[in-house]
Amino acid sequence: LEENELKKFFIRMRTGEIAGVNVTIPYKQKVIPFLDKLNPHAEACGAVNTIIVEKGKLIGDNTDGRGFINALTEETAIVLMNTKVVVIGAGGASRAVCTSLCEQGVNSLTIINRSLDKAKEFANKLKQLFPQIDFQTQPLKNLAISNFINTTLLVNTTSLGMTYDWEDLGFIEKLNKEAIVSDIISRPAKSPLIKKAEEQGLKVNHGYNMLLHQAYIGFELLTHEKAPRAIMKQAVLKALGV
Ligand code: ATR
Repeated sequence: LEENELKKFFIRMRTGEIAGVNVTIPYKQKVIPFLDKLNPHAEACGAVNTIIVEKGKLIGDNTDGRGFINALTEETAIVLMNTKVVVIGAGGASRAVCTSLCEQGVNSLTIINRSLDKAKEFANKLKQLFPQIDFQTQPLKNLAISNFINTTLLVNTTSLGMTYDWEDLGFIEKLNKEAIVSDIISRPAKSPLIKKAEEQGLKVNHGYNMLLHQAYIGFELLTHEKAPRAIMKQAVLKALGV
């Protein structure tokens, strides 16, 4: 759809002809003015990736963060309550991931970003929603001198390792040996960050699992039927050459 077609599309959607849609880049924020309501989680994320019609009303949801948490817990069995987590990136994907991590009751969240201002602005917004959590921010250029003491989880939410390269992955060596490393990049299936973490003997969470879990949730929301997980997984792994 082109941007100037959105208005017409949503009028059609209200008639019930279409049960729901998935929204992707670059429309995750642009669709919001056309909707009747966001659920509280999508509201906190400030972005929508799923729209459902309920009694003629358009309701915005965001399944990225839930997909991330489900994938992470399935692959690593992590318990997030009261942990210290570090997230790289402060864009749309980071918003969904960080909001969900906060909802899981982490104790401390450090947001590392190329533009420090953006990280600070986002951390301030999260602090209003989750006053009990300790938020820190750090510029990406200081990654090499980071202190990762007691960090349970490190997540990359940027395209570092896909459309642009990490300057130096040496910071991974500073993580505790129990730390878990997660990358939302699904292509390549073994991202540079994941490779480095595995070389260090750390537990990892692959990006394609987030993609899959997000798709399971989307399928079930739109069809009200159980997602054919095995078939979907096989198709994604095959497409990625895993
Ligand atoms: P998405 O919705 O996929 O998260 P986005 O909202 O454009 O995309 O966010 C991209 C993220 O990747 C941001 O954290 C961005 O950093 P800035 O806020 O400083 O722009 C980060 N990013 C983009 N290009 C980058 C690069 N070359 N090096 C490091 N970080 C980069």
